Formats: sequence, C-alpha cells, structure tokens
Amino acid sequence: MNTSCIIRGLGHCVPDSVLTNADFERMVDTNDEWIVTRTGIRERHVALKGETCVDLCHGASVQALKQAGMEASDITHVVLATFSPDAFIPSAACMLSHRLGISGRMAMDVSAACSGFLYALETARALIALHPQAKVLLAACDIVSSRVDYTDRGTCVLFGDGAGAAVITADGPGLTGGRVLDVLVSSDGAVGDLLTIKGGGSGTPYKLGDAIRRDFFVEMNGREVYKHAVRAMSSICEEMLTRHGLTTSDVDVFIPHQANLRIVEAVGKRLDMPEAKVFTNLQKYGNTSAASVPLALSEAVAEGFVKPGSLVLLGTFGGGFTWGSGLLKF
Ligand code: ACO
Repeated sequence: MNTSCIIRGLGHCVPDSVLTNADFERMVDTNDEWIVTRTGIRERHVALKGETCVDLCHGASVQALKQAGMEASDITHVVLATFSPDAFIPSAACMLSHRLGISGRMAMDVSAACSGFLYALETARALIALHPQAKVLLAACDIVSSRVDYTDRGTCVLFGDGAGAAVITADGPGLTGGRVLDVLVSSDGAVGDLLTIKGGGSGTPYKLGDAIRRDFFVEMNGREVYKHAVRAMSSICEEMLTRHGLTTSDVDVFIPHQANLRIVEAVGKRLDMPEAKVFTNLQKYGNTSAASVPLALSEAVAEGFVKPGSLVLLGTFGGGFTWGSGLLKF
C-alpha cells in the first residue's frame, strides 16, 4: 500500500528569552570567538520564562493548522516528537490534544532525539497509508535547556529550545504544500552512550531526597558525535538521492539538522552540495534537537528560500544514535 502524503501547513515557535554568546561569557569560561568558530551559533532562544514543550508545540501547531486552513477538530491523529516532554505521564501528545481542545484521537509521543521530526513523519506516513482520510498533526519540540548543565561549557553553548509543527494528509488533486516523496530513518544503539541523558530514567532512577547528579544532564563525547553525525547524515542523504536516481544538482534546497555549522559544512562538502542551496538558522537558534529540522523548514518556506516547485532534501542525526533523510517536493 502506498498512499502519498503532503505537508499542508507548517509552523514554528520559540521561547521569548534569548541567550547570546556574550551571556555565556558571563556564565562559563568561554568566548564568542570559540563558540562562533566551532559551531557558528551566535544566540539561542531558551525557556527562561517557564515555557514548556506543550506550550511551544501549541504555538507551532496553531500556525500549522492556520496555514493548512484547518481547525484542530479536523485532526485525527497527534504525533509529537520530543525527549523533553512536560511529564513522563501524561504524554506531551495527550497534553497538546487537550490544549487544542480535542479528544478521542490517537495521541502519542515519539522519542528519537534530534531525528524526531523524520521519525514522526515516517509514523504519519504509515498512519495515512492505513487510514487514507487521516489528518495528522505532527509536532516536534525540545526544551533542551531543561536537561543542560549550564556550568558545562562543552555542552551548554550548543543548545536552544524550540518547536515545529506540520499538518499532513494524503495527497490529492488541488492540494498545495510539500509532497512527501520519501523518508528514510535508521538507528544504532551500540554507540548510544556517546550522547546520553540517563539520570531519572528507570536505568538510573532517583529516589526522594537524592541530590541531582551530573547524569541528569546531557553528557556527550563531542568529537565522536561529530564524526558519527557527519558520516551518518551524509550517507543517508546519498542513499536517498541514489534511490530516486537523483544527484545534488537536482536538489534545490538542503535542510540539514541544525546541530552546528561545522557539521553542516562537512556534510555539504561530502554531498558536493553548493553552499547557496543549504538553509541554516542555527546561528540564531542553536541546536533545538527534535525541533531543528521543522523549525528550519518552516522558516525556509516562510522566507521564500523554499519556493513552489523546490525539491527539498532533509537530513538529520541525533542521540540514540538515530538519523534520517526526507525528500519533499513543494
Ligand atoms: N568555550 C571554550 N572552550 C571550550 C568550550 C567552550 N564553550 N567547550 C570546550 N572547550 C575546550 C575544551 O575543554 C578543550 O580544551 P582542552 O584542549 O584544554 O581540553 C578544547 O576546547 C577543545 O575541545 P574539543 O571538544 O576537542 O573541541 P572540538 O573542536 O571538538 O569542538 C564541539 C567541540 C563543538 C562540541 C565539537 O566536538 C562538535 O561540534 N561536536 C558535535 C556535537 C554536537 O553537535 N552535539 C549535538 C548533539 S548531536 C547532534 O545534534 C548532531
């Protein structure tokens, strides 16, 4: 069964507060030059006013629904990608549905770290193949700041908070948006320990009265993550192009996971992708994990970087490890 899907609407939302590199100079032993040279990041939006995953998903979803010309009550399934939900129970998808005033639908969270959007998109495709009338709301969000140790200069400068959302249905005559031509996703748990947040999970539980330990926050071997990210993202994007008999010259826009500029440049070089085709917004948002790709896609469409007719290649990589690629035609 193959029902082709279309992204009918996109939206994004970030917290109001911004942390600049100058702010980090006051917090840890770092400087703007180190951060910009190593990562390209200049500032990131952070939920300092208490915004939650569901708050940001709600903001992004309202935009996506408006762009799709739909009401929340039209939605049949809610799929939400995050590693930082408001609570373990209920799921963020259930909370988002309630916030949108809908109930009686399947609502579930997907955990694939920075690859969450593509994992959720593949889930949406499967749901639409089973239920061709489905109207899936896909939200992807991380409040990475809730699990970042702001005394660890090696990780705290890299991340920001944000959300992206998309409304996806089966394709049909007269519909406009981004046709989902294909999605490829993959994983390898063998190297998962290179990027973890273990504390508070059932493998590393906290008891009442325990002090919060280092394992509550993101722990990462940056150099190894860098190597795996470049290799995996490039190879899955190559696989996507080969599978469709395409080359980079057929691609109009490449939207990679906005981890950092050096990873983006290295992947671009391996794919032989001209810089002018690569969309980045990590300079102002940092690495927003699951939100990274939809936040970039939503902005790229809003800014006219993605135009009607554009062939868009997506690439992602994240904790797990998980990685993936998507091919869209606007
Ligand atoms: N400011 C100043 N110095 C710093 C900082 C900082 N913020 N952070 C680390 N350093 C220091 C280190 O302590 C080290 O000092 P030492 O040599 O005295 O020990 C030195 O800088 C070099 O550290 P490295 O970790 O070797 O620096 P590297 O050049 O590898 O860059 C970085 C670090 C940017 C984290 C890089 O490894 C990277 O991009 N990794 C990918 C990580 C990533 O993007 N993870 C996100 C999650 S996964 C994903 O989304 C793809």
